[in-house]
Amino acid sequence: MINHNDYTVEPMISAKEIAARVESMAKTIAKEFDGTEQLIVIGLLRGSFMFISDLVRELELAVEVDFIETSSYGDSMESSREVRILKDLRGEIKGRDILVVEDIVDTGHTLQHVKRLLESREPSRMYICALLDKPTRREVEVKADIVGFEIPDEFVVGYGIDYAQRNRNLPYIGAVKFKAETE
Ligand code: IMP
Ligand code: MG
Repeated sequence: MINHNDYTVEPMISAKEIAARVESMAKTIAKEFDGTEQLIVIGLLRGSFMFISDLVRELELAVEVDFIETSSYGDSMESSREVRILKDLRGEIKGRDILVVEDIVDTGHTLQHVKRLLESREPSRMYICALLDKPTRREVEVKADIVGFEIPDEFVVGYGIDYAQRNRNLPYIGAVKFKAETE
């Protein structure tokens, strides 16, 4: 249990469970892209940095890695619903197979926006992988092709995912619990 001034982090998914799931997701993805000459793996910054680095190490495929960054929640826990691109891809994706790697699908606005943008660039195939999914929070209809874990409506941190930029370095995923809630 991590103790901050006004909240604690209660472990939800252990590092071991994450590693096992990442390995099995990588196997599924490798099968999906069997025959692809060189896959472009696209991480959504910043939350997916740890996940993408573990995922590509387990992927037995020839890959390129690229990143795109969207505007975030700022320091709040609420989705802004308006998604802007802060950093675009470096490479071209037209006619290529791409794998989009996201940390969490929450309201779905971010993924829907990124999906539409990348689709407009005409990749030959787009496959979306999300580590976490909070299906009960969805406001727009969008789905990842593969999800690591479905989780309840809780604000989580760790394994790349932050709350006000903190806790990204935790090796596990935990739920943020405000002290007022638990006292
Ligand atoms: P959406 O647009 O509401 O689906 O939000 C997607 C983005 O919000 C994710 O990529 C995360 O960066 C962030 N986010 C959503 N839920 C959480 C959470 O529980 N903890 C930290 N960040 C979150
Ligand atoms: Mg994100």
